[in-house]
Amino acid sequence: AYHREAFGFARDNVEFRLGYIEHLEQLGLEDASFDVVVSNCVVNLSPDKDAVLRQVQRLLKPGGEFYFSDVYADRRVPAKLRNDPVLYGECLGGALYWNDFQHLARRADFTDPRLVEDRPIAITDPVLAALTEGIGFHSATYRLFKLERLEPDCEDYGQAVIYHGGIVGHERHFILDKHHAIEAGRVFPVCGNTWRMLRETRFRPHFEFIGDFSRHYGIFAGCGGGLPFDAGKVEAAGCCC
Ligand SMILES: C[S@@+](CC[C@H](N)C(=O)[O-])C[C@H]1O[C@@H](n2cnc3c(N)ncnc32)[C@H](O)[C@@H]1O
Repeated sequence: AYHREAFGFARDNVEFRLGYIEHLEQLGLEDASFDVVVSNCVVNLSPDKDAVLRQVQRLLKPGGEFYFSDVYADRRVPAKLRNDPVLYGECLGGALYWNDFQHLARRADFTDPRLVEDRPIAITDPVLAALTEGIGFHSATYRLFKLERLEPDCEDYGQAVIYHGGIVGHERHFILDKHHAIEAGRVFPVCGNTWRMLRETRFRPHFEFIGDFSRHYGIFAGCGGGLPFDAGKVEAAGCCC
């Protein structure tokens, strides 16, 4: 009722269905019927993360996205720790190694996972800290677009976009991800994948698009590999991302 009034809807448009995130097929939801799927700190608790991503891929409309926060590890969590009920409950035991997550996402046809923000997690409990010694945990938000023609890497076609503003909360800059804060009114060079993430999604009306895919100029400069998360300020562990 609060949101209905706050957003000016005449009637409720929220429906609750109870189920498991890896078994969304049991909820009677139609294929390709969602614009956005969100989740906060649940995927790490799922025993079948592959199924989660495949189900979300099925449910999203073309151009839709999975926008979610979760916990990731900087290496694979050993089986002994994965099976520890306390570490699992703290959202640490089930955390995916970030690069395994990237591969899982790509296997589920989310070809170019985009990291939006992240921060390291400090394990302040001395027992848990000793158990997990040597493993770095990070809370991170990713967005995964359902777009058929994304490429495995950021390729340069000499394209650019201009953000015209108009997205609430992003008046001066549109933050697509950690590497793209697109200033309103300014010509902003983009790779082919970013172009598609803006042009073939709900963001399209807010942008002007310069160029096309007719000429390839090689890899898009600045798209590097390695640990994607910042060392930054370490924050205490907690189950909420
Ligand atoms: C850390 S809490 C996050 C709750 C909420 N998303 C938030 O941000 O406050 C994790 C929640 O995931 C639920 N959960 C655990 N395993 C799940 C699964 N396989 N499918 C769906 N929910 C699950 C738990 O019951 C718990 O409510």
